Amino acid sequence: MAIERTFSILKPDTVEKNKIGEALAILESSGLRPVAMRMMHLTRKQAEGFYYVHRERKFFGELVDFMTRGPIVAMVLEGEGAIAKYREVMGATDPAKAAEGTVRKKLGANIGENAIHGSDAPETAKFEIGYFFPGYELG
Ligand code: CMP
Repeated sequence: MAIERTFSILKPDTVEKNKIGEALAILESSGLRPVAMRMMHLTRKQAEGFYYVHRERKFFGELVDFMTRGPIVAMVLEGEGAIAKYREVMGATDPAKAAEGTVRKKLGANIGENAIHGSDAPETAKFEIGYFFPGYELG
C-alpha cells in the first residue's frame, strides 16, 4: 500500500481535557507518524474557511463556536494507507456509534464535541493539509 499523508485536528475539547497525549498515543500506536504539528487558537474566519463545505448545514454556527473556543492541535500524519487507517482509528463522527479503541469512543462526548477531526478522502487531505501547512514546511 502507498505511503500517504492525512490531516488531523485534536479539537478544543481534547486540549481542554489535557488529553493530547492520549489521543496521540492511539494514533501513533496505529502506525501513523506525525510529520508536522502546530498548536493554535483558530479565529472564526479560519474555522469557517476550513469547514466551508458544511456552511449550509444547520449545525455550522455551533461547529464554528466549538472549534474557536480554545486551542487546537493541527497535524499531518504519514503512513501506509494513512487516510483509511486514520479514519478507522478516529472512529465514527458520533462517539456513541464509534468502535471500541477509537479516539472518538475514548475521548468524544457527542456528535458536536467529538474530540478529533480527520480527512475523509485524498482530495480533502490535500485541501486540509494545504490550509494549515505551507509546502515549504513539509519535507
Ligand atoms: P468533523 O469530522 O470535524 O467534520 C465536521 C464536523 O461537524 C463533525 O466532525 C462534527 O463535529 C460536526 N457535526 C456533524 N454533524 C453534526 C451535528 N448533527 N450536530 C453538530 N455537529 C455536527
